[in-house]
Amino acid sequence: MTAAAVLPGPQGTPGETARFVIGAAVWAPSVHNTQPWRFAVRPGEISVYADPDRRLPAADPAGREMLISCGAALFTARLALRYLGWVPEVAVLPDPDRPMLVARIGWTRQVPPAAYESDMYQQVAGRRTHRGGFEADDLPAALLTALGRGAARHGATLRIITDGGPQAALSAVVDAAEGLLRLDATRSQELARWASPPGSTRPDGVPATAYPAVAEATDLAFPGRDFARGHGWGTAPASSAPLLRPAGTPGLLTTPGDQPADWVGAGQALQRLLLDASSSGLAAALHTQPLELPELRELIRVQLAGGSYPQMIVRLGRTSQATSSVRRPVRDVLL
Ligand SMILES: Cc1cc2nc3c(=O)[nH]c(=O)nc-3n(C[C@H](O)[C@H](O)[C@H](O)COP(=O)(O)O)c2cc1C
Repeated sequence: MTAAAVLPGPQGTPGETARFVIGAAVWAPSVHNTQPWRFAVRPGEISVYADPDRRLPAADPAGREMLISCGAALFTARLALRYLGWVPEVAVLPDPDRPMLVARIGWTRQVPPAAYESDMYQQVAGRRTHRGGFEADDLPAALLTALGRGAARHGATLRIITDGGPQAALSAVVDAAEGLLRLDATRSQELARWASPPGSTRPDGVPATAYPAVAEATDLAFPGRDFARGHGWGTAPASSAPLLRPAGTPGLLTTPGDQPADWVGAGQALQRLLLDASSSGLAAALHTQPLELPELRELIRVQLAGGSYPQMIVRLGRTSQATSSVRRPVRDVLL
């Protein structure tokens, strides 16, 4: 899939620039592909709003994952402006009386984009969430350090989990959480509302083209969400895949606090991490199942995150598997 927007260049009108930027921002990742954002445009300014009608009441009562998703869209909008050669001027959560106003973004100054910014932008529409195992590969330490530096720019910490004991503990918590979520009728019904059958033309939710029909077994269990719910939906397995594949390099994205500003920061850090990783040929699997169960989230916070707040569980690695996703067009997300 490619971004639909036409490149206006730095000389484009403010309206053309806004359209281009929003056309990129909609490709941000979001929980269950709810795309819980809306955008308002004024000359030279875009406002990013969270859309509470797209929050998940059972999985995400506080709107934490909604704001992480919006933070990812905000980062993408900033990156698209950089790609055009504009310096974004961003105010995050600028109005305490309007908590759904995630950010205002302006642009008046021009500086050509750095090569790494253009590289990251090129990943925006093609990056996909991976669901399965990875190639057997040790990721270079320097690359993981660089990804961590990027996350730190948004106040978040990427904690790569290297030791076997903590890795096994994280795997066990994800496994337990997925089992609990499958037993919870309210949460299962909520997930079902965001998982479309094969052939659906719906522009949101998780399509059957986004996950394997047969869950891949990984050397450490990191089960995926049950989008198919026994229907046999999903993509055919790659025939050459070995039976048990490496789970990849697991990590936690954490923040020192757990307020809306931390969630927006975590979302920006997440999207920077995903695009940066993608520029380096890496894919990421995302898991938030245990972070939706307060006791298990607290267990991770205390035992695996040094007391800071886990906002996302990631697994990084290399894969040649391709999946596809869907997005709403720009006209559907404008206020
Ligand atoms: C806050 C958040 C939580 C997510 N949790 C999960 C998850 O638990 N399992 C999963 O497979 N994907 C998860 N995702 C990925 C989304 O499902 C994915 O971004 C969305 O379906 C769009 O697909 P794409 O990332 O391939 O464009 C999460 C994404 C975000 C931003």
